[in-house]
Amino acid sequence: MRSIELNIQDAVFFAEKQYEANQAKAVDAMTTLENGTGAGADFLGWLHLPSETPKSLLESINKTAARLREKCDYVVCIGIGGSYLGAKAVISALSDNFADFYGPAPKNPKIVYAGQNISEEYTAELEKLLEGKKFGIIVISKSGTTTEPAIAFRIFKELLEKQAGKDAAKDLIVAITDEKKGALRTLATQEGYETYVIPDNVGGRFSVLTPVGLLPIACAGFDIEKLVHGAAEMEETAKHPGAENPCEIYARLRNALYESGKKIEILVNYNPKLHYFAEWWKQLYGESEGKDSKGIFPASVDLTTDLHSMGQWIQEGERTIFETVLSVKKPAITRRIPQDAANLDGINYLAGKNIDEVNKMAELGTKIAHVDGGVPVIKIELNALEENTLGQLIYFFEKACGISGYMLGVNPFNQPGVEAYKKNMFALLEKPGYEAETAAIKSKLNK
Ligand code: PA5
Repeated sequence: MRSIELNIQDAVFFAEKQYEANQAKAVDAMTTLENGTGAGADFLGWLHLPSETPKSLLESINKTAARLREKCDYVVCIGIGGSYLGAKAVISALSDNFADFYGPAPKNPKIVYAGQNISEEYTAELEKLLEGKKFGIIVISKSGTTTEPAIAFRIFKELLEKQAGKDAAKDLIVAITDEKKGALRTLATQEGYETYVIPDNVGGRFSVLTPVGLLPIACAGFDIEKLVHGAAEMEETAKHPGAENPCEIYARLRNALYESGKKIEILVNYNPKLHYFAEWWKQLYGESEGKDSKGIFPASVDLTTDLHSMGQWIQEGERTIFETVLSVKKPAITRRIPQDAANLDGINYLAGKNIDEVNKMAELGTKIAHVDGGVPVIKIELNALEENTLGQLIYFFEKACGISGYMLGVNPFNQPGVEAYKKNMFALLEKPGYEAETAAIKSKLNK
């Protein structure tokens, strides 16, 4: 059953001409994607992943998760970019807002993240949190050589071996990496860690429905079968090109808006649980489309919070933006606004209403104001924040991203630009093999 609905009526009239004109291009991009005849076709493993995920893989992941849940109060999920954002997006969307403050419960470990920055304080403070605690590690790196997770893994592996003993630690570490090659694969084989494979033909930012996302999500206690099932439902919905395909419509519209001068897309939510979903979405679209001096800049805001900081810019700043609003139909818990005898704050007119009624009116009022102010607003309505709906949403954005990238005329599945900072960082750190780059960067700095 479809549990997300796309509504373009408050956006399409801003770029009607471009939208009418690019229909054939959208069908073409969709067909190219499905037929695997476009740039980066070696990385289309995600396209039919939901419908082709074997039950045995999900069972195996659930079994590993059950072991870690049994033995750990904390599970450290080590990875960066596509190797952690999907898991964090889903876990945050499904968790209690204050889950972190409750502390671990038996068989219900806290998921904490490492290797997604190079902050000394973050690492040291996480070490402090884990001192004397029962914890396990899921280390995720497709290449196995990314600096950030490599540093974190050294540190937390050392702590785990010190606390649990080298042999017991082996049972508490799971590596998710390339099937055959890379430093992490070699280490996992040497040490005898349990491993899962990141398929060769699935890039990091498209990997949330592989063990990369599924194992941490299962460790957090969520239902990965429902998540994958939801994605498979959207895979079926978005199978054929044409005006009924929501992925194609979204890809087509954002390209039409881009052509009409809207260079920035803001993913908006009215529910703080979706904050990290936007972080995942930003990587998906930013890394896929920002190349060859092209691409919509993906940004995000949490509303109504950011209406009190970014609202002015959105309402009256440069008219180069459009919004895609994630709107959750019904909250999982209801709470009414109380009556107050003194009514000093003047909000008694709201007494008796659910808080979500006010949120929905804020959303509607904001949409009208933004559209009036020249901001196209696309709406994606989600039935509820639960696994099936999130699976549908993930696949919706992935497929739309592939179509959109092809419409834009880029290879949506590579990320050559990510190497530039690494090359300079290695040169500055005098990594062996980078002698020429070290000399070049030093002379540049001394100019
Ligand atoms: O999408 C991508 O390819 C990147 O974000 C990678 O996931 C990220 O750089 C981490 O790479 P790796 O998994 O090889 O450590």
